[in-house]
Amino acid sequence: MYSDKVMDHFRNPRNVGEITEPDGVGMAGNPVCGDMMELFINVDEEERIEEIKFRTFGCGAAIAVSSILTEMVVGLKIEEALKIDNKQIADELGGLPPVKMHCSMLGREALEKAVEDYRKKKMATAGV
Ligand code: FES
Repeated sequence: MYSDKVMDHFRNPRNVGEITEPDGVGMAGNPVCGDMMELFINVDEEERIEEIKFRTFGCGAAIAVSSILTEMVVGLKIEEALKIDNKQIADELGGLPPVKMHCSMLGREALEKAVEDYRKKKMATAGV
């Protein structure tokens, strides 16, 4: 049912945990199943994601999706990272069963929220 890559990321998820003082935090919930994901980012002066961590209270597919997403976006500029869509994430994992496609939304949504949070904090610091 799952590709070897999904199983690998599920068993050995990369970048699990939290960043103590992150530049941005995003939380997303999956309305279909009630699972949740929290994502932390640190961003450098060029707006590249230099560090990313996640915690998820979700199914195996959600764990694999979150893990691969962190690997796909680390080192990318925020704008480039936000262009990655759910299908690309699923493709990178060697595909997800159709009933599990909704699980791939979680990571993408949490990333968007973390970027929003980062931008809000940045504006607040700049006094805008
Ligand atoms: S079943 Fe909830 S995220 Fe997969």
